[in-house]
Amino acid sequence: MQLTVNGQRREVAHPDEMLVWVLRDELGLTGTHYGCGIGACGSCTVLVGGQVTRACLTPASAAAGREVTTVEGLARGERLHPVQQAFLENPLQCGWCLPGHLMSAAALLDRTPDPTPAQIEEAAGINLCRCGGYNAIRRAVARAAELKRGGL
Ligand code: FES
Ligand code: FES
Repeated sequence: MQLTVNGQRREVAHPDEMLVWVLRDELGLTGTHYGCGIGACGSCTVLVGGQVTRACLTPASAAAGREVTTVEGLARGERLHPVQQAFLENPLQCGWCLPGHLMSAAALLDRTPDPTPAQIEEAAGINLCRCGGYNAIRRAVARAAELKRGGL
C-alpha cells in the first residue's frame, strides 16, 4: 500500500499496523511519539487529511488516499512553521508531548487564524503534558497565531 506522507508517496509494507508504528518503524519518522497507546495523551498526534488524528489508534490503511502530515512536515525547507517558532520561544521541559502539541496547534490555526483563549484551551486540552507545561503551551499557541497572522 502507498501513503502520502509530508507530500511524498511512500510504500508501506504493514498497512494493518497502527499509523504510529508505520511512521516510526517503517518510514523512520520518529518525530511522532508514542505515549499511552489508548488515545489519551496525544503525543502520537498527526494530521490525516488536515484532521487531528491519534496515530496510536489509527491503522495505516485508514490514511490511504489522504495526506498525512507529521511534525517533520511542518517546516518549509529552512523556514520554521509558526508553531515551531512559537514553541522555541516558550520552551517545555522533556518535550515528549511536543510533537502532538505542534500538530494540534497547526490544525487549530489552519481553521481558526485568530483563536480566542477558550478556543486555544479547547484545542490544546486534547494533548497531555506530564511535565505540566500548560501555561507555556497556551502562550505558545497564542504566539503562533500572532506569528502566522504576521506572515511567518
Ligand atoms: S500514544 Fe496515542 S494518544 Fe497517547
Ligand atoms: S514537556 Fe514533558 S511531557 Fe510535555
